[in-house]
Amino acid sequence: MNRFQTKTAIVTGGASGIGRETSVQLANEGCHVIVADLNFDKAEEVAKNLATDSIGFKLDVSSEESWLDIMRCTEETFGGLDILVNSAGIGFAGDFEDMPLSEWNAMMSVNLTGTFLGCQKAIKLMKKKGTPAAIANISSLGGLVGGEDIAGYCASKGGVTLLTKSVALYCAGKGYDIRCNSIHPTYVDTEMLDPIADAFGSRKTMLDGMASQVPVGRVAKPADIASAILYLCSPEASMVTGHQMVVDGGQLAGMRAQHSTK
Ligand SMILES: NC(=O)c1ccc[n+]([C@@H]2O[C@H](COP(=O)([O-])OP(=O)(O)OC[C@H]3O[C@@H](n4cnc5c(N)ncnc54)[C@H](O)[C@@H]3O)[C@@H](O)[C@H]2O)c1
Repeated sequence: MNRFQTKTAIVTGGASGIGRETSVQLANEGCHVIVADLNFDKAEEVAKNLATDSIGFKLDVSSEESWLDIMRCTEETFGGLDILVNSAGIGFAGDFEDMPLSEWNAMMSVNLTGTFLGCQKAIKLMKKKGTPAAIANISSLGGLVGGEDIAGYCASKGGVTLLTKSVALYCAGKGYDIRCNSIHPTYVDTEMLDPIADAFGSRKTMLDGMASQVPVGRVAKPADIASAILYLCSPEASMVTGHQMVVDGGQLAGMRAQHSTK
């Protein structure tokens, strides 16, 4: 398919995991991608290997100045912006009573403020171009339900869920053809899980434990999430805005069998 031919996308967190795979899939469908990440070397490496004319960019999503820079660069290099994927994110887990304020603040500033700034600055550039545009914000299952040992992460991702709906309504109300949706993955096998794997002593032990909580019996791959993102950003989803798309192998669907002997 070539759903994104001649389009331009910014993908934050594009150097790794879900953002990297999304950049690959977008480029494979003809999109120019600005692979934006705090880690510039990795972002540039990803961009160099994409199927289209794409670039790496050093972006700190928590900095307003950095967002203004990337918007300037996007307009100068590609003439405008059609798609923003806010995938940059960080997470810390632990006992709620001992959660350091620094970890809380870091998650709020990257996951929530970063997404806020991205939406705000992208809308200005998208509306200038005046063609249909889309924003996909990567929240989490933790943006829909709480987590015993990830309170700060859930609070930041819950904020992303309602920020997304508000941005969708704002754009619709203003008559902008800019859609905004959130994606809520279960566990995804990416670099983000590396510290947890270290704590478990083996990646396989960690992944087996996570998979046992997912009805389909496996954790997600980055490609599972990227294809949902591409759908939400494509013309096929032109009536979909303010939606929270769960990609979780059935995890939030309801209760597993506990009520009968099988
Ligand atoms: N992996 C999972 O299990 C999982 C599950 C649900 C939701 N998510 C969410 O999906 C998104 C992508 O996660 P991932 O698994 O690909 O993680 P990842 O760690 O593989 O990639 C995250 C990227 O974000 C970048 N980043 C961090 N802080 C940044 C900043 N201030 N500015 C710019 N870039 C920054 C990192 O350098 C990294 O390249 C995150 O928002 C995460 O919370 C992940």
